[in-house]
Amino acid sequence: MKTALITGVTGQDGSYLARSLLQKGYKVCGGERRTATKKYWRLDEMGITDDIDFVDLDLIDQANIRRAIEKVKPDVVYNLAAQSFVSLSFEQPELTSLIDGLGVLRILESIKQVNKNIKFYQASTSELYGKIFETPQNEKTKFWPRSPYGVAKIFGHHITINYREAYDMFACCGILFNHESRMRGEDFVTRKITKGIALWKKEQKPIILGNIHAERDWGHAEDYTEGMQMIMNYKIADDYVLATGKKHTVKEFLETVLSYLNISYYWKGDECFDKKNNILISTIDKKYFRPSEVDLLIGDPTKAKTILGWAPKYNLEKIIIDMVDADLKRYYNKN
Ligand code: NAP
Ligand code: GDD
Repeated sequence: MKTALITGVTGQDGSYLARSLLQKGYKVCGGERRTATKKYWRLDEMGITDDIDFVDLDLIDQANIRRAIEKVKPDVVYNLAAQSFVSLSFEQPELTSLIDGLGVLRILESIKQVNKNIKFYQASTSELYGKIFETPQNEKTKFWPRSPYGVAKIFGHHITINYREAYDMFACCGILFNHESRMRGEDFVTRKITKGIALWKKEQKPIILGNIHAERDWGHAEDYTEGMQMIMNYKIADDYVLATGKKHTVKEFLETVLSYLNISYYWKGDECFDKKNNILISTIDKKYFRPSEVDLLIGDPTKAKTILGWAPKYNLEKIIIDMVDADLKRYYNKN
């Protein structure tokens, strides 16, 4: 039986990856940082909390990481832990850098010292492309991050490649474009919309958004966590883009949600109203705009398709059905 250590097991990707690895017969150890309350809602919803061996692991503490690796003796480490909210990284740039940048180095150094044969996956991101140099973006596209999050992640990306080259370690980066699901954190725009619409149906409370003209390449976390495993199971350690190759604006995402629910709407500038009763559905507030924005991301996953045979199964409509149905159940139908 192989053992996988997943940092960030309580997060969106951590939960999907844990479930998938458990189904494949892995022993799954989940790194969790100590907080006053447990954050197991995703693992609980999936019914897998009791199948995971939890270990204390905070990415800002080197000794703690090394102890976890010595204790767990993993065959593979998936580093999914991060301060992953781009917006917050402008408010907490130093903390974000410690976790998302130096945290990666701490794990790599621990692996090098404890057992160099442990495989390592780093959660890199399309945020590295930032102010994009070409469309679509692939593994060779130049990076120009636009947030402290992106800058910290670029360190994590290059230090992973450096440990692969310098110490011959099996260390890979998945440059993943945005991926969503019913398990997405509530601050991210897609979930803010699907949860917001469920609450709007219940109590007509409008959703307050930021830049609704930003464009993203949205996939589903289930497809992307399968892709992570394909990257790690390939014979050669390398870096891959995982993306759908399709882009939509935030506004289009909201419109598709409304169409799925048969809510007819009209726009007055950036405000969206319900056609039947002229009730406000969404508006914007400057406080949700970022000091420097990533206007457009769209990925080219040709390398992952050709070498690994990876292809996403979810399109935008299927992602929206998954998310909306879950939030309607949680917030609209629950009473
Ligand atoms: P997420 O839902 O925000 O989960 C982040 C996880 O990291 C949580 O389990 C969190 O634990 C943990 N964490 C935060 N700070 C930590 C620390 N100091 N030490 C240990 N654990 C810590 O993120 P996600 O969407 O699953 O993303 C997974 C990874 O992929 C992240 O590295 C993210 O940056 C990257 N990524 C995500 C996307 C995407 O679209 N989802 C795209 C590209 C890359 P708590 O439960 O205690 O908060
Ligand atoms: N969060 C949020 N809230 N974003 C909004 C809002 C809002 O109310 N209104 C508009 N947006 C815009 C943001 O300005 C951004 O352009 C876009 O919607 C997506 O924002 P997020 O959903 O917060 O995701 P992200 O693209 O910044 O970052 C996510 O994807 C990255 C990969 O590209 C995160 O998962 C990162 O961790 C990940 O690396």
